[in-house]
Amino acid sequence: MKIHLSRPDITEKEVQAVTDVLRSPNLSLGPKLAEFENAFAKYIGTKHAVAVNSGTSGLFLCMLSLGIGPGDEVITTPFTFIATSNTVMMTGAKPVFVDIDPATLNIDIAKVKSKITKKTKAIMPVEVFGSPAGFDKICRIADNHKLTVIEDSCEALGSALNGKKAGTFGKMSVFAFYPNKQITTGEGGMILTDDDHLADMCASLRNQGRGKSGTWLSHERLGYNYRLSDINCALGIAQLSRIDEIKTKRKQVAKWYQEMLADDDRLIVPAESDGCDMSWFVFVVRLADRFTRKQRDIVLKQMMAKGIQVSNYFSPVHLQPFIAESLGCCEGDFPVTESVSARTIALPFYNNLTRDDVAAVCKTLKKVLD
Ligand SMILES: Cc1ncc(COP(=O)(O)O)c(C=O)c1O
Repeated sequence: MKIHLSRPDITEKEVQAVTDVLRSPNLSLGPKLAEFENAFAKYIGTKHAVAVNSGTSGLFLCMLSLGIGPGDEVITTPFTFIATSNTVMMTGAKPVFVDIDPATLNIDIAKVKSKITKKTKAIMPVEVFGSPAGFDKICRIADNHKLTVIEDSCEALGSALNGKKAGTFGKMSVFAFYPNKQITTGEGGMILTDDDHLADMCASLRNQGRGKSGTWLSHERLGYNYRLSDINCALGIAQLSRIDEIKTKRKQVAKWYQEMLADDDRLIVPAESDGCDMSWFVFVVRLADRFTRKQRDIVLKQMMAKGIQVSNYFSPVHLQPFIAESLGCCEGDFPVTESVSARTIALPFYNNLTRDDVAAVCKTLKKVLD
């Protein structure tokens, strides 16, 4: 593979930070955990941050701490990574999908109201590909219906809408740190909230149900081991300290793509929505509506054959066989999601992609389309 879809950006600073922990006696539950949580809460601007071992664990613990479970419904999007709705199902609650806005790719605000029932407990919107477009309006609808917003910010570290940071819209929000994310801890996630009780619950649930002042072998509730080790936290602290530089680098790569792919009527090229300051997660172009899924798949195949790693972010969640079967979804249920999904091409995107790399990707894409 000549150009990868994503690559982590690890400097000597990160290597040194991890090495320092490895030379210490505290590989887990040491000082780096609180240091990472405090730095993260400060960056986002929330009272609490609770580090966990993945974004998935984080979303699951948010719902558990809010008491969401069997018989409840959570409104969310079918155009996302599978973990969003999986975590709803893990609690025994039911994900209720709402189709997306074709312009922002986020949940279609106009369609949310009709899906609210007596069973609805929360709305879990996703900042798809890093964009918080429409999140102010989603919060307004949730407030009007006394619903909790759990913000899936796993793709949006550093983004903002009208100056308000992603991760501050929901009562709880979650970020993720898999290596393709804006910052990585290898694997990891972070729960954010201003609520003291919810933060305490999440901290307990991630640590075998231990209480704040209890001993190692006293457990107050059914818990999990979703802890993030100090090794991961040290990596996260070093990465987070570079977030402004990382965001700038990613903005530059996105700008090169936008410039080089402009004026090609075969492509829909992503742009920042009104009021959005994007911290780009991925760069996903779409083929114009006249192209079929089959043609898109051929483009993906030919790009891969030419050494350029691409992907079809996302495949509609409601059509994943186990979801379709358990929720009774079928093709045609969410036409915008299905139409968008059939035409997406995620292009190589990471901090240190050079202008020449971007030019090579764009040249190859245009040639394949010819
Ligand atoms: C929107 C969204 N939600 C949840 C997750 C889950 O995060 P993790 O892979 O850390 O469990 C991801 C990760 O890719 C994501 O993109």
